[in-house]
Amino acid sequence: MAKITANDIVKLKHEGKPIVCLTAYDFPTAATVEEAGVDLILVGDTLGMVVQGHDTTLTVTVDDLVYHLSMVRRAIKQALLVGDMPFMSFQESDEKTMAHVGRMVKDGGAEAVKLEGAQPETLARIRKIIGAGIPVMGHLGYTPQSVHYFGRRIVRGKTAAQARVLLENALALQEAGCFAIVLEMVPWQLAGLISRALNIPTIGIGSGVECDGQILVLHDLVGFYRGYSPKFVRKLADVTASMRAAVQEYGELVRGRRYPAQEESVALAEDVWEEISRLEKPTED
Ligand code: KIV
Repeated sequence: MAKITANDIVKLKHEGKPIVCLTAYDFPTAATVEEAGVDLILVGDTLGMVVQGHDTTLTVTVDDLVYHLSMVRRAIKQALLVGDMPFMSFQESDEKTMAHVGRMVKDGGAEAVKLEGAQPETLARIRKIIGAGIPVMGHLGYTPQSVHYFGRRIVRGKTAAQARVLLENALALQEAGCFAIVLEMVPWQLAGLISRALNIPTIGIGSGVECDGQILVLHDLVGFYRGYSPKFVRKLADVTASMRAAVQEYGELVRGRRYPAQEESVALAEDVWEEISRLEKPTED
C-alpha cells in the first residue's frame, strides 16, 4: 500500500487510468472513503455547506480547514490529501497566502492545496506555493467562491468566447506548475478538448466522462445533504434515510423499555446486590 503522491496522480493520466477523487471532512468518513479505495481525498470548502449548514462556501476559514484536515489526516494513509484554500485566504497578499498554506500543511497535514481561478495574481501565488515544494491543484469552470458573480448560472464555457478563455486558463495553470485541475460544470465536449490539450489530469465535477478523473462531494454521493442537488450528482446511497430509520427505531425501543436488554447492561455480583438491595425502601401502595 504505497503512499500516493501528486506525481502518481499525473502518472495515472498517462497510464489511461481514471482518477477517483472524493471529499471527506472528518475521521470516520475519511477512513471509510479510503478503505473503499480512492486516489485523492479533498477537504473541500464545501464543508461550509454540507457540514456547517451555510448556503455558500464563503464563510469557511483557514482555521476550519486546518481543523477538518487534521481529522482526515489521522484517518488516511494512502490517498493524496488535498486541502481547499478558503475564500480570501489567497487573494490578499503573497505573505498571507504562504502563511495560510503553511498552516494547512504543517498543522492540518495537507499534502497539496487547491485554489480557484487563474487570475494573474493567482498564477503568481501558485508559482510561489509550488516553489515551496507544495503541489497545487487548480479549479476552473464554475468556481463556487464566485457565487455572487455567477449566481445559479453555473455552467461555464457555453459560448465559444468562454470556451477559449477556459482553455487558455487551463494551459496557464499547467504552465504555472499545477499537477491537476478541477473542471466544474463545463460542457463535456469542452472538458474533453481541455483534457486532451493538457499533460496534467483534469478532474471533472459535472463536466462529463472525458475528464481524466472525477470528484464528487461525499454527502451528495451518499445522500447526506439536504440542499440543492445538481443533475450531475449520482446518489448511490441514502445515509439520511438509514440514519433516520435507526434513530426512529432507537426512540421506539427506549420508549417501549426494550432497550437496553440485560446483555447490554452490567450486573452486580449477587452478594453485593443482596446487601445493598436492603437499602431500597418498600414502595407504598
Ligand atoms: O470544495 C469542494 O468540495 C470542491 C469540489 C466540489 C471540487 O471544490
